[in-house]
Amino acid sequence: MGNSTISGLVGWRSPSNIALVKYWGKYGSQLPRNPSISFTLSQAFTETIIQYESIDYAQDQIQIDFYFEGKPNEAFKLRIESFLNDNIESFPFLRHLHLSVESRNSFPHSSGIASSASSMSALCLCIASLSRLQSDKDTGSEDFLRRASSISRLASGSACRSVYPEVAAWGHTTFIEHSHDEYAVPITGLHENYRDYHDDILIISVDEKSVSSTAGHKLMDTNPFADQRYAQAKANMGDMYAALLSGDTHELGRLMESEALTLHALMMCSDPSFILMKANTLQVIEKIRQYRQDTGQALYFTLDAGPNVHLLYPHSISSDVSLFVNSELRPLCQDQKIIHDRIGQGPVQIKSFSL
Ligand code: PMV
Repeated sequence: MGNSTISGLVGWRSPSNIALVKYWGKYGSQLPRNPSISFTLSQAFTETIIQYESIDYAQDQIQIDFYFEGKPNEAFKLRIESFLNDNIESFPFLRHLHLSVESRNSFPHSSGIASSASSMSALCLCIASLSRLQSDKDTGSEDFLRRASSISRLASGSACRSVYPEVAAWGHTTFIEHSHDEYAVPITGLHENYRDYHDDILIISVDEKSVSSTAGHKLMDTNPFADQRYAQAKANMGDMYAALLSGDTHELGRLMESEALTLHALMMCSDPSFILMKANTLQVIEKIRQYRQDTGQALYFTLDAGPNVHLLYPHSISSDVSLFVNSELRPLCQDQKIIHDRIGQGPVQIKSFSL
C-alpha cells in the first residue's frame, strides 16, 4: 500500500442465506464434504464498516477494535482476530493496517436467527475491498465476489454463499459449471416462479443452540451414515438445480424438506446425539403438511441446525399463507415471533473511500 499513511473506510451490507441442500460435514481449511445450494435472503442482513489506517511496521498478530451495535464486544473481537491471524497468509497486507470494525444486524441478536453467514460475509467483503484497494479493479466484478466468497468460506463455511444474488452453490458438483469447493458460484437462469419467493422464519425458540455448528460438522467425522449422506447430497444437488431452473416448486419443496429432516436425523444419530427440534417445531411441521394436503399449495419448510422453521412459498399464494400462518402457526412461536424475509439481491457496498 505504499509508504505514505493511508486511511479510509470500507463498508458492506450482506444478507443471510437459507440452504436448500445442506452443508454438514467439513475437512481441511473449511472445505465441504458435500456441495450445497441456498437462497440469498434480503431482510436479515449485517452492515459492517471498517475504518483502516496504515501503520509503519508489520504486526505479528492482528489486533482490531470491534464494536457491535455501537458497543465494544470482546467475544466477537476475539473471534475475528483469531480468524484473521489463522488466515493471515491469505491477506498479508492486513499486517500493515490497523482496523476498527463496526457491525450491526438488521435483526436482534439472540433472536433465533443465525448471524454468522451475514456477519462473516459482510466482514469478508470489506476485507476483499481492502485487498482490492491495492489494485484498481471494479469491486462488482466476478473475480472480486469470488475472492470475497473464498475469504468468507474461511470465516464461516455457509457465509461464502451470501455474496451472490438469489441463488448460490458451494462445493464442486458435476451439475453446475465452475462450481468449486473453495468458493460459491452464482446460479443464473432461476425460474421466475422463485422471483420474490418468501421465507417466513418462525421463531420457535430464541435459546442458544445446544450444539455449535463447528461441533456439529465434527460429529459427521464419526457418523455411521456419513458416506450415504454425502452421496445423497451430491445427487440432490442435480435434482435441486433442475427444480430451480424448471420452476417446479413442489419438487424443490420435497427435496428441501428431505434435506432438513436428514440434517436433523444426522444429529440425532451422532455420538453424542442431539435433538434440535422442539415440540412446537414438530407441531408446525405437521400443520404445514396438513395445509399442503388440504390446499395443494406449494408451502414447504426447511430447518437449520436448530428449532426454528423456515417457511418457503411463492408470492402468488402469499395472501392465503398469511391467513394460515397467523391463525395456526404464529401461536406456536416464541412471543408469536415471525421474521418475514424474501429471496434477495445480494450484498450492497455501503461506501469506500480513501481520506
Ligand atoms: O456455516 P456453518 O459452519 O455455520 O454451517 C452451517 C450449516 C447449516 O446451516 C446447517 C447448513 C447450511 O448449508 O447452511
